[in-house]
Amino acid sequence: MTKSTEHWYASWFDTPYYHILYKDRDYTEAQTFMDNLTDYLNLPEGAKILDLACGKGRHSVYLNSLGYQVTGVDLSEQSITHAKQFANETLDFKVHDMSQPYPETFDAVFNLFTSFGYFDDEKCNLETIKAIKSELNTYGFGVIDFMNTNFIIEQLIPEDTKTVDGITFHQKRSVKEGYIIKDISFEADGQHFEFQERVKAFTLKDFELLFEKAGVHLLDVFGDYKLNKYHSQTSERMIMIFK
Ligand SMILES: C[S@@+](CC[C@H](N)C(=O)[O-])C[C@H]1O[C@@H](n2cnc3c(N)ncnc32)[C@H](O)[C@@H]1O
Repeated sequence: MTKSTEHWYASWFDTPYYHILYKDRDYTEAQTFMDNLTDYLNLPEGAKILDLACGKGRHSVYLNSLGYQVTGVDLSEQSITHAKQFANETLDFKVHDMSQPYPETFDAVFNLFTSFGYFDDEKCNLETIKAIKSELNTYGFGVIDFMNTNFIIEQLIPEDTKTVDGITFHQKRSVKEGYIIKDISFEADGQHFEFQERVKAFTLKDFELLFEKAGVHLLDVFGDYKLNKYHSQTSERMIMIFK
């Protein structure tokens, strides 16, 4: 069976296979990042945080354990259903499309682990930044943690396979027309599946342009989860703080 859809991100992220492929995500690294980020932003206990495109909620749950009031939103119903088991009075999860303004304001809005640049309709990228702007209160900070495109393209492994839980995923990576593309094929549950991940290869300059158009101001850029300085060719991440 071949699965293809106009909006790849709505189907692939909602399958159990996506979660199997990436089940070894590093929780310790995510938690260290949240410690460093909340320290840097000087967010007081009880501050309100929106975790935009929260997935199964790994950052939201940890931020809540640090004493923050957290709302996690994601387009994937499956991920939100999973995350809801952790909900409490100060931790809430909702299905929501990040290109639409969420009707509340926050002390910080986080978009973490390259959860940006998926849209087929490019104007949705700008709409997402405008939505973040509307979700920030007067003192609020926006944070986008994106791959460092220059570094990723330099390090791109064209093809490999990875076996997880008995499923062998064949992964092919390429750069086409400004997008970093990963084609994933595998056999599971007696069927053949093909999915494609497609992320816009935004550079810092591209983000600066989007920020300018949306009317937000870039304050700082970090290059990794320890919040070391960003270097355009060698940093693994591009972590942008804006207001
Ligand atoms: C790479 S995952 C990261 C998830 C999470 N931030 C983490 O670090 O575990 C990207 C997430 O973006 C979500 N996503 C994609 N398009 C979205 C949209 N338009 N609105 C909200 N979430 C979206 C996907 O469902 C997926 O959970």
